[in-house]
Amino acid sequence: MLLEDYRKSQESKLVPSSIGEPGVRFEYPLSAEHKLQLVIPRPDHEKIFAHRQWKGGLHTADRILSGEIDVKDKVVLEVGAGTGLSGIVAGCCSRPASSVLITDYDDVELITNLRKNVRDNDKRGNLKVMAHCWGKDADDLRSSSLTRDGFDVILAADVIWDSFSHLSLIETLTQSLKQRPESRVVLVAGYHTGRHVVQAFMRRAKAKGLVPDDSLIMEFERGVYSQSYTDLDFDLLNGLEDIDVYREQRQKTTIECRLRLVS
Ligand SMILES: C[S@@+](CC[C@H](N)C(=O)[O-])C[C@H]1O[C@@H](n2cnc3c(N)ncnc32)[C@H](O)[C@@H]1O
Repeated sequence: MLLEDYRKSQESKLVPSSIGEPGVRFEYPLSAEHKLQLVIPRPDHEKIFAHRQWKGGLHTADRILSGEIDVKDKVVLEVGAGTGLSGIVAGCCSRPASSVLITDYDDVELITNLRKNVRDNDKRGNLKVMAHCWGKDADDLRSSSLTRDGFDVILAADVIWDSFSHLSLIETLTQSLKQRPESRVVLVAGYHTGRHVVQAFMRRAKAKGLVPDDSLIMEFERGVYSQSYTDLDFDLLNGLEDIDVYREQRQKTTIECRLRLVS
């Protein structure tokens, strides 16, 4: 029900950036017969924003399910997982990852809920949960990967809204992405946080060697692909000097970008 309401709300003027409340259950359909069962966490820490299902996680899950984000036989990490929806879809879909390490902030309630969501849905035994605070013990994370040399794909959905966390998150991403040309961070962010925050993250990531690949920075409006940017210097207001129109535009837009490591 929650998800149906969310899909319908995509038509509203100000598309909500998240759904649900702490403790609320929802289903995410992988197929007509197979529905994932998830519970929204009730974290002890308030400022980490794990108390909802965010639209970045829904976008990522939908794109994995449609095959646009390819995880088949890959070693996958999810950072800032919240309910764990994207990582669980990566492990349970019809073209599944070989292993998924699902991580979030070291908060007892949050990690306990994440473990329960994984336990309730993990039929293949390819999902693992671990607490990880960005920027800390990235070596532990890498050595916890299936192949012990990092991850082929890192899922990062709605995790860049807080500019004070950018550098520690980038540290986690650069330290745990496998050093292979085909390895990617899949970054998804709602523009509800503002274009300038997304742009600041992209610039900081570039300074640390994480740059968009040839699929560029893709923008989706109400879940539908709209345009791509070829570089990071897009017009911040994009011609939307009217603040009300700007706000509406922000609410309905999501970006998706694959980042690769350059030396
Ligand atoms: C806006 S929520 C997104 C959750 C989920 N990816 C989704 O799309 O629903 C941000 C997530 O980042 C996590 N987070 C925030 N700060 C963090 C930090 N310093 N280290 C690790 N995780 C953090 C929160 O616990 C939360 O789960």
